[in-house]
Amino acid sequence: MTRPCTVVISGKGGTGKTTIAALLVSALVEAGATPVLAVDADPNTNLNEALGIEIAETLGSMREQAFTESIPPGMDRTGYVRYRFRRVLAEAEGFDLLPMGRPEGSGCYCFPNALISECIGTLERDYRVVVVDSEAGMEHIARGTVKNPDILLIVSDPSARGVRTARRIRDLALSLGLAPDRMYLVINRYGGEVAEEAAGVTADLPLLARIPEDPAVEEADLRAVPIAAIPYDSPARVAVRDLAGRGRAICGGKERS
Ligand SMILES: Nc1ncnc2c1ncn2[C@@H]1O[C@H](COP(=O)(O)OP(=O)(O)OP(=O)(O)O)[C@@H](O)[C@H]1O
Ligand SMILES: [Mg+2]
Repeated sequence: MTRPCTVVISGKGGTGKTTIAALLVSALVEAGATPVLAVDADPNTNLNEALGIEIAETLGSMREQAFTESIPPGMDRTGYVRYRFRRVLAEAEGFDLLPMGRPEGSGCYCFPNALISECIGTLERDYRVVVVDSEAGMEHIARGTVKNPDILLIVSDPSARGVRTARRIRDLALSLGLAPDRMYLVINRYGGEVAEEAAGVTADLPLLARIPEDPAVEEADLRAVPIAAIPYDSPARVAVRDLAGRGRAICGGKERS
């Protein structure tokens, strides 16, 4: 069986990772590239709000409990963890959401981590595309939460400082062993111009998409409406739809049919 196509959305804080993740999940569902697994790997769990779905708990909080609580009669620990894991997974039309929550505190978590990796491993095979919204920075890659994404999107604003940071993230990912041809730059909040410096950066980090500054995104944010519910023809949504198409073309045969 083929692995799903895994897209990790990375970038510095506040560049629009969660916004793009939510719009990308919607675009994939609309295009019929289902089922999609949306992974919220940011400890500040907020992809659920952007997607407009409720979550009961996170993998982090479940792990704290499932390994300390007493187990229902007739179940062993492994079975209980598997059962709890299914409950962490929020199901929606065309996609599921896995909120990772906070990483572990103190103590040895080798067994829980191994078991949970196994649960995730089992899950992944059901999905055609996995979209991971990560926390700012590169720690998630360093930690190995996502081993080898097929596509690493590095989101930046159009400023010189922004694209410089994007290049640093690329260099770090490269030093951690990620293939250079899997990394792409996404300029978000594009208003017609990108810093001149971007030209140098895109020589090593191809520009996959420019997502326009979109009042509908801002409005959704102000009114606490899910980003995924912005109008179908709003500029950011249209641009992410195009991005989804390019991403699927890059993944090509990797997508499970
Ligand atoms: N294309 C856009 N047009 C207008 N506003 C946008 C756009 N993209 C993102 N924003 C706004 O920018 C802010 C940050 O976006 P978002 O939360 O998606 O960033 P993030 O990278 O996930 O942040 P964090 O690093 O905190 O997780 C939000 O208020 C969002 O509404
Ligand atoms: Mg975010």
